[in-house]
Amino acid sequence: MVNAVYPGTFDPITNGHIDMVVRATKMFEKVIVAVADSTGKQPLFNLQERVELASRVLSDLPGVEVIGFNTLLVDFARKHNASVILRGLRAVSDYEYEFQLAGMNRNLAPDIETIFLTTAENYAFLSSSLVKEVSRLGGDVSRFLPQQVIAEIKKKLG
Ligand code: COA
Repeated sequence: MVNAVYPGTFDPITNGHIDMVVRATKMFEKVIVAVADSTGKQPLFNLQERVELASRVLSDLPGVEVIGFNTLLVDFARKHNASVILRGLRAVSDYEYEFQLAGMNRNLAPDIETIFLTTAENYAFLSSSLVKEVSRLGGDVSRFLPQQVIAEIKKKLG
């Protein structure tokens, strides 16, 4: 009966993130997609929009909840009875940053474990920033994003 928190900025949610959530539902009782405010990243979509988009594209998955937060991740995890933080590793370059995050979170909350899944190979190069850039410049992002997200990006970018 373990609940997991899958945190990120999700600006916007991509097929790579969705693949992670689908796989996580097979391992955990409940998967809480925790959408961070991340104002420092100056997101294209505001927090409410990112939560709504993620909720819409994940609505078919049982055991998945999408919640926004602007607190410490470990506090959010405790509040929602999650003992696992789930992160995706796309490439070796992710490792150093993820090692720091996991280390800090373990120091703050030794009772919460960070678990990593490697992302699907076909999404290993994907990031929300890249997808936004390709979209802004008129490239085809249909393999990387759900239809609902493509429509919202088009609305935002004009
Ligand atoms: N498929 C596709 N893309 C993926 C991916 C996957 N499986 N996994 C990660 N990414 C991309 C993201 O889209 C993102 O791209 P971007 O930088 O172009 O936007 C990038 O990889 C990594 O960002 P993300 O996963 O969104 O995490 P983040 O680094 O923005 O945020 C938080 C990390 C939210 C977990 C962290 O800032 C946090 O915990 N904040 C809360 C406050 C806190 O507790 N701080 C102390 C932490 S020790």
